[in-house]
Amino acid sequence: MSRVRGVFVLGESADSEGPDLAADFAVPFYDASHLESQKPKQLEGFIRSQTKLPKDATAYVFLASAGPLSLLQLSRNGLLKLSADLANTTLNYRRLKGGGKQQMLAKAVGLHATSHPRVLDATAGLGRDAFILASLGASVHMVERVPEIRALLKSALEHARAPEALPSDDFGQTIGRLSLEAGDAIDCLARIAHEERPDVIYLDPMFPPRQKSALVKKEMRILHDLVGFDPDADQLLEAARATGVRRIVVKRPRIAPALSGAKPSHVLSGKTNRFDVYLNL
Ligand SMILES: C[S@@+](CC[C@H](N)C(=O)[O-])C[C@H]1O[C@@H](n2cnc3c(N)ncnc32)[C@H](O)[C@@H]1O
Repeated sequence: MSRVRGVFVLGESADSEGPDLAADFAVPFYDASHLESQKPKQLEGFIRSQTKLPKDATAYVFLASAGPLSLLQLSRNGLLKLSADLANTTLNYRRLKGGGKQQMLAKAVGLHATSHPRVLDATAGLGRDAFILASLGASVHMVERVPEIRALLKSALEHARAPEALPSDDFGQTIGRLSLEAGDAIDCLARIAHEERPDVIYLDPMFPPRQKSALVKKEMRILHDLVGFDPDADQLLEAARATGVRRIVVKRPRIAPALSGAKPSHVLSGKTNRFDVYLNL
């Protein structure tokens, strides 16, 4: 069952998104447009009073405004916000200045050898890796199983497709190469017929819990709370290998064991992460 308690709409332009979302999650829809320019504390107070949320309880609400949808976590520590804004400056800086096809992600996926691979991103999350791959020419079909995360990504894609959101033609083409599917990728992979096989399957399951939890970024804390640690990641790799696809790439923390104990064909290592590449030639 979803832990989302409601959809709060700030600002008129989000009118169309809010009610549909509230219906999808079977939660109430609230007009909070009078709070648009108010401080977070006021917004939190309004949300708590409307949803009758006890002071110490942790819960989530969607916040629809002029930009892409956000998910707000309310807890005894206050508010944390998560969104999948694909037009944000950090991500677009990485798109333009992140090293292009020389960056580890691109090399791992084989973008230096094939310019327009079809990639199945079986762990879409907030769509950032998929966005970078698409900006380098890949067509990326994303699969995400957690409804709250998928709603953020769907909204980000829709906002990025709106003509007024397009910062440049390249950005529009990048977004045009992305698609999103709901469901568990283990089931999707089992259905892939020979002729539908992508060139590459990309897996970035949640990393195992870290010792130094104080260092975990706020965004990651929400993801951990909502998504957990993807305990079936080994099965996901097995399902990917069973498709017979030529290349599988797994993103892992630098010193974590390989998924399913399977030895990669080669590994690209960075300071904190690495990419295990499985080739089936
Ligand atoms: C670490 S995040 C991925 C981050 C993503 N690469 C990005 O750049 O934003 C992992 C995501 O994969 C999703 N996931 C894990 N296993 C999955 C599966 N079997 N099917 C679909 N989604 C899955 C989780 O719900 C989570 O949202």
